[in-house]
This record gives sequence, structure tokens and C-alpha cells, in this order.
Amino acid sequence: MPFFEFRGDTDLFSLKYNDVYWSKDGGWAEKNYVFLDSVDIVSKWAERDIFSILELGFGGGINFLATRKKWRESKPFKKKLNYISIEQNPLPKSDLTNLYGSLELDNSLYIDFLKKYNTIERGNHILGFENDNLDLHLEIGDVLQILKNLNIEVDLLFLDGFSPSKNPEMWSIEVFRELFRICKTNGIFTTYSTASLVKENALSCGFEIEKVKGFGRKKWLLHGFKKDESKIGVRNPYFSLQNIFRNTNSTAIVIGGGLAGTAIARTLSKKGYSVTLIERENNLAQKTSGNPAGIINPNITVDVSTISKIELNSYFHLQRVLDEYKNDPNFLYVINGVFLASENHEIERQSKGIFNHSLSNELIFSNSDSFLKKEGYLLPNAGWIDPRSLCNTNLNYNLENQIEIIFNSNVLDLSCENEKWKVYDEKGEVYHSDILIIANSTDSNQFELTKWLPIRKFRGQIIYLSKEIFPYFLNHVYILDDCYLIPQKDYTILGATYEKDGDNLELNIEDTIKLINRITNKFSLSPNIDYGKIKGRVGIRVTTPDHLPIIGPIPDLNFFHKEYHDLSNTGNRNRLKSAQYVSGLFLFTGFGSKGILLTNYLAEVLAKMIENEYTGLGRDTLESILPSRFVVRRLMKKKGY
Ligand SMILES: Cc1cc2nc3c(=O)[nH]c(=O)nc-3n(C[C@H](O)[C@H](O)[C@H](O)COP(=O)(O)OP(=O)(O)OC[C@H]3O[C@@H](n4cnc5c(N)ncnc54)[C@H](O)[C@@H]3O)c2cc1C
Ligand SMILES: C[S@@+](CC[C@H](N)C(=O)[O-])C[C@H]1O[C@@H](n2cnc3c(N)ncnc32)[C@H](O)[C@@H]1O
Repeated sequence: MPFFEFRGDTDLFSLKYNDVYWSKDGGWAEKNYVFLDSVDIVSKWAERDIFSILELGFGGGINFLATRKKWRESKPFKKKLNYISIEQNPLPKSDLTNLYGSLELDNSLYIDFLKKYNTIERGNHILGFENDNLDLHLEIGDVLQILKNLNIEVDLLFLDGFSPSKNPEMWSIEVFRELFRICKTNGIFTTYSTASLVKENALSCGFEIEKVKGFGRKKWLLHGFKKDESKIGVRNPYFSLQNIFRNTNSTAIVIGGGLAGTAIARTLSKKGYSVTLIERENNLAQKTSGNPAGIINPNITVDVSTISKIELNSYFHLQRVLDEYKNDPNFLYVINGVFLASENHEIERQSKGIFNHSLSNELIFSNSDSFLKKEGYLLPNAGWIDPRSLCNTNLNYNLENQIEIIFNSNVLDLSCENEKWKVYDEKGEVYHSDILIIANSTDSNQFELTKWLPIRKFRGQIIYLSKEIFPYFLNHVYILDDCYLIPQKDYTILGATYEKDGDNLELNIEDTIKLINRITNKFSLSPNIDYGKIKGRVGIRVTTPDHLPIIGPIPDLNFFHKEYHDLSNTGNRNRLKSAQYVSGLFLFTGFGSKGILLTNYLAEVLAKMIENEYTGLGRDTLESILPSRFVVRRLMKKKGY
């Protein structure tokens, strides 16, 4: 059942809330007046290098487009605008397309937005505009849940829920409490509503309020001010990133030419950094990222977990990356759907997971597969990517700033003098940069500053089944209980083994037999298999004790041990000093079995940490991927990590 309808070409009406999305006196003019002009937004953002807006209710995106227009017109070069918008019921793209057409907006304001709006489901979506100087963070989900986990301070709040009588949860006291926490001192909220509930809740949470002349038929609108100087304590200061020096448009070295290294090199290059990528081998993707194909599908856990949040965000982000890369003739990928063939108990778990994550049928639906003759779930927009081509496209396609690539350079040591990094390789060459990113996977703990990292290695073998052995034509990628099948042009990939601490890169015949045994009871295979002749490939996955990647600045261990030595006993931990880091040094590793899926999205997240900007990850998720989590857990005397 639709939750909205058009009334005329330009008026949207919510059937769920029984209210209009904007004034009948004209949505575009109303939004411009209430949210932008009434607070003189142009003079406000002129005062700051980074300006952040939080909107409650993205709706038709009219506020966002109006803000974008003003931003362009006022040309605040070199400045940054973060526009964070929370929305529970994203409108379909086709309706937004019709709406913007009817409003006769300048199409350069919305064409690229609509392109990126493709898959908007629950989670965080980072859409970059205006050369990445304007970030739209679409946060899809319930307002209060998202606000509670938001770890950013904003300059301006747009309160644009439906009217308080029809949509009280957007104006509740709990919501205002969070808004007050998030609002900077001297920050402002603006809203069309002057309902007494709004005024009372705003006042009781600490805002001062003022009525201002309203738009159209409305006599007044409301502004709220946070004048309070007292800082609301930083939560978990040992995970705070506020001491990262905001390093923009400088020089960067990336160590490692696999998926991780190439993804972060691209992201930084797009942001204007001059990037040098150093790789030990004579080409990109020679190590773990060198398989011919890998699957892109998100792990949907039963409950909403850190891993499922990160994987879903990455999956949606990757859809946008694919859309951008698809015109590169050398980029190889096929979206033919991934079928999750589940046992009965798994079907129930999957269906609970889909429900708990509020995922739509467009993303995943239950299906009976005619080839396998099995029930399961199909992800129609999932498929496989050749990771070697992804590495190459990351570095070559549509980039204004060339990335310098240095092959055959084995980095042995690092040092930092006067805020500049020096990287020494085996041949005696020395490279210099402002920031340094360690993205060399299995060897990311090879340096003095990283040797404490608890990384683990898991050997994985895949094999290539010729048509003689496996004479089937597969319409999808199939994920079975203990293996998967990826169709290729002339063969089928069967994967993968998972062997702790293994580091032998040779193909192992016992593993080949083990893999084939996993499918003999499901398919009839050629009776005369010469196992020794079957080809394949081995790679080493890097994982962590908590199975989450390692992304972010390297903690200053001396500071951590001195300041946080008593963490297990400290009563009010929020009074501790904020964390300090080794300046300009970052880690990007630990992608386990999911590097193809994760690296492009998490490169965006890391670049935002490097520039000391809002990452888009909720507080709990962010804290779960920082390198410092291992140190903090030790200091809290949690067993192991
Ligand atoms: C069998 C198998 C199947 C997989 N299937 C999937 C899948 O289906 N979907 C998915 O999303 N992911 C999959 N993965 C995971 C994915 O391949 C990895 O997560 C990803 O390749 C890791 O990329 P990386 O850049 O971190 O590591 P790597 O590709 O290993 O890159 C690290 C690079 O650093 C270089 N290097 C190391 N030390 C130095 C140094 N000192 N100086 C200079 N260079 C250095 C290395 O030469 C290497 O090129 C699979 C992995 C395996 C093993
Ligand atoms: C008036 S509309 C916003 C109009 C929008 N700002 C624009 O410029 O087009 C209000 C929006 O709030 C959203 N909303 C209502 N309750 C919500 C909740 N609990 N959590 C998140 N969003 C909610 C609605 O889905 C709707 O899109």
C-alpha cells in the first residue's frame, strides 16, 4: 500500500501521516524561506570551514536541493558542507524524478543526485557532490534511534517532520534532548512549526526560542538557539577522533596495491590529495586481491549487528560505484543475482534478519530456485566482480589527479620528522608525504608502530571447474551451506577453504578434493576427475579477533597507557582526556573474506577520518572498527581482545 500520493503535479501528501510534505503556498519557496533565508544561512556558513546541517525528514529532498543551490550560488570555495538527513520512508526515485521535473528545477541540481539515489534502504548512504565539498549523508531509519547514535556536532538543524499533532515522534522530548546534545554552542534550529509541544520540548531541553515572521498563510515560524557554553561531555573519550589534525589536500603515501590500497588511493586522489601508491610486486592485485572473481553480497544477520550495518552500507555504496565504473571497458563484473540456498532453519533466520533490517523486496526476496530445486533467498542486484579489474579501475578511471604508482618496492621501515612521513624501501629509496596509509594486508603489523595489531591469517583456496567436470550453466552465483559457485565464461569457480594460520600459497590437492566433496551430493559430476589437474588459486585473508576490519588512526600507545591505564576502575570515564594518535598515520586492513564488498565504502569512511569530518558511521559502529579498540579492551582488562 503506497504511503503517499501526488495531489497535483507538485504537491505530495502523506497517506501514512495524513499531512502535506510542504505548504500549499509553494514548497520550493516555503523551504527556501523557512530553512535558509530566515536564518541567513549564507552568512552563517561563510564563518566556518566546515558547516554541518542536520535535517529531520528528508522527504522529497526539496530542502537539500534548495541548500545545494544556495551553496553553489554563494561559492564558498574550499569550504565543506555536511548535510545529514534522517528519513524513515524514502520516496521512490521515479516519483522524485517526476516531482523535480514538475517543479521545473535546474536539472544540474538533481540529475546526479537521482543517479546516486538508486538504492536507498536502511543505513548510512554517503553521496558526494560539488567535487566532494558537499556531502549528503542520508540516514535511513527511525529518527530517535539514529539521533542517539549520531556522533557529530552541527551548526544548524532543520526540523521538518510532519505537523506535531500527526507526527509526534519527530518532536518528542527525547528527540529534543538529542538535538540539544548534537547542536554546537551558538547553533540554531529552524522550523515551520510553532506548536506548543515544540516550544515546550525545546525550552525544557535547554534551547532558547524566538518566533519569526512565517511563510505564506503561516504567521510565525520558530527558531531555537543553544547558548549554553557548557560542553556536553564527550562520550568514550578514548575513542574520540577530535584530536586528528584536519589534513586536507596534502600528499599521501599508500602502502599496498590490492583492493584496500587502490580504494583509499582513489578516494584521497578525488579529494585533491597527491597520492603515491607503493607496491612490493610488479603489478596491482598480485596477492589476495588476485582471484578472478569474488562475490558481492551483504551478510544479513538475524539482529541488526555491526557487521550487517557495515556490509549493507558497503553494498549500497558499491552499487553506486558500479554505476560509475560500468563504462570502463576493462572493468569486469556481472550482476546476475546471488542465490542463498538455505537449510530450513536458515530460512527462518534469514527471514527474521530481513524483517529486523526492514529490507525491501528490491534488495532480497524468498525464492524457489528451479536449478537447485531448493528454497532460499535471491539478491537480484548482487553478483560477482573481478577484483583485479576493480583495483585497476580504482586507480585509472575518471580521475583528474594521476596517482603515482611505484612497483617492485618493498617497504621496510617508516619514520616521521617534523610532521612529514618518510618511507624506506628495500632498494634504499625514500619517499615523503604528509600522511601515510598502511594498506598492506598480511604485513600491516610488520612495522614498529603496528606490531601490536592482533591480526590473524586464514588461507583460502578456490578451484576452477571445467565444463567437463561441472557441465552446468548457472544463472546466478550460488551460496550453499559450505561452499559457493561463481559462473565464469568457460568454467565455474568453486570456493573456498578456510584454514587458520595457513600461509602456503601453493594449490593443495587435499583442499581440491575437500572442495569437490562438498558438492558431490548436490550435483552429478564427471566420474573421472583428475584432481591433480584442477587449477585454482590461493589467497590469505586477514581477519581480526572480532572479525571486523581495522580502519583509522594509529593510537599513541604512550598516551593511551598513561591516560587510560586505570580504565577498568575509572568511575566517570567521560572526564578523561580525548584520545591522541600518531599524527598522519592510518590503517586500512583486516577485510577478511569481504574486501571486494567493503573497501570502496570504508575508504570513504577513512578519508573522512583523515579530514576530521563526520564519517557517517554511528558511534557504536565507528568504535568497533578503530585500531584503538584492541588497546582499550586490553586496558579494560577484557579477556583477550
Ligand atoms: C579464497 C578467497 C576468496 C575470497 N572471496 C571474496 C568474495 O567472494 N568477496 C569479497 O568481498 N572478498 C573476498 N575475498 C577477500 C578479498 O579478496 C580480500 O579481503 C582483499 O583482497 C584484501 O585486499 P587487501 O588490499 O587488503 O590485500 P592484498 O590484496 O593482499 O593487498 C596487499 C598488498 O600489499 C602489498 N604489500 C605487502 N607488504 C608490502 C610492503 N612492505 N611494501 C609494499 N607492498 C607491500 C602486497 O604485495 C599486496 O599486493 C576472498 C579472499 C580469499 C582468500
Ligand atoms: C514534511 S516531510 C519532509 C520534507 C522534506 N524536508 C523536503 O524537503 O522534501 C517529513 C518527513 O519526515 C519523515 N518522518 C516522519 N516520521 C519519521 C520518523 N519517526 N523517523 C524518520 N523520519 C520520519 C517522513 O517520512 C517525511 O518524509
